[in-house]
Amino acid sequence: MVSPSSSQKVALVTGSSSGIGFETCLTLARNGFLTYATMRNLNNSEKIKSVATKEGLPIRVVQLDVTEDRSINDAVHSIASDVGKIDVLVNNAGYGLNGAFEDLAMEEIKTQFETNLFGVIRVTQAVLPIMRKQKSGIIINISSAAGRFGYPGESAYVSTKFAIEGLSESIVYELEPFGIRVVLVEPGPIRTNFADGMVATKKSQNPNSPYLEIMKKLNAVLASIRENASSPDLVAKVVLKAVTSENPSLRYLAGKDMETWMEAKRSMSDEDFRKTIKQNFMK
Ligand SMILES: NC(=O)c1ccc[n+]([C@@H]2O[C@H](COP(=O)([O-])OP(=O)(O)OC[C@H]3O[C@@H](n4cnc5c(N)ncnc54)[C@H](OP(=O)(O)O)[C@@H]3O)[C@@H](O)[C@H]2O)c1
Repeated sequence: MVSPSSSQKVALVTGSSSGIGFETCLTLARNGFLTYATMRNLNNSEKIKSVATKEGLPIRVVQLDVTEDRSINDAVHSIASDVGKIDVLVNNAGYGLNGAFEDLAMEEIKTQFETNLFGVIRVTQAVLPIMRKQKSGIIINISSAAGRFGYPGESAYVSTKFAIEGLSESIVYELEPFGIRVVLVEPGPIRTNFADGMVATKKSQNPNSPYLEIMKKLNAVLASIRENASSPDLVAKVVLKAVTSENPSLRYLAGKDMETWMEAKRSMSDEDFRKTIKQNFMK
């Protein structure tokens, strides 16, 4: 076992090959965390390795696909045998599924849940015995504005993020007695590979889809919303704030306009909020 210096905290981040996960690894490592940058495809590790080498950062790359039990167990066991602890888990890996609800195939919905929700569940369940034994730890679940309110065209994605919110709100009570904290980080639109990696449901490509025109317009709006996105570095800083806080909150917003949206959601009736969503998304 190669112990980190006794006070050095150990972090595991999923989906570290790009975007929020990538920036979170760099931010944690720059702030002294021994950071395990996990990713499903190690061919995508060159960029993070080169920054780590250039800056002399404590980053180790490990293969982890959140949809595969074996990959998760191998990764967690190798970290445990390497350093004997995991202080921070950042459940970040995820992607979006785009398409009108009726056009979503059940397989596409299941695949979306496999990564975005069951992935979080699998990795968290693998890490918890370690955190419970050490009687400390913090789990950061990267949710989304899509975990706080629904909008058209991405209902399966929204459902996974609502589920992460419910999961986190529930397990917080069970884990607190073991010194383990659970935090939701809720980004608004962030400039990453997310839009490019978005999976379009097959039926939505069909020229006979009754939702074709609606989705065309909607996707143009979603693209323009994403043009005004915040930097992933901003989310990484929020994660750092949460993990270094003495008493972290359950929720942290991250990104432009998130406060405004949340204030609207808090202060408006469901009916008025629905009108606001329609005005903003279905122009
Ligand atoms: N960007 C936004 O506007 C936004 C807003 C709110 C919330 N979020 C959330 O932020 C998180 C990160 O997304 P991002 O914006 O940084 O997008 P991104 O740049 O596309 O990064 C997504 C990461 O997840 C990884 N991933 C996907 N499936 C995986 C799997 N089965 N196992 C392990 N890793 C997997 C990807 O790996 P590969 O490189 O191998 O594909 C990639 O590293 C997601 O949970 C997303 O829902 C994003």
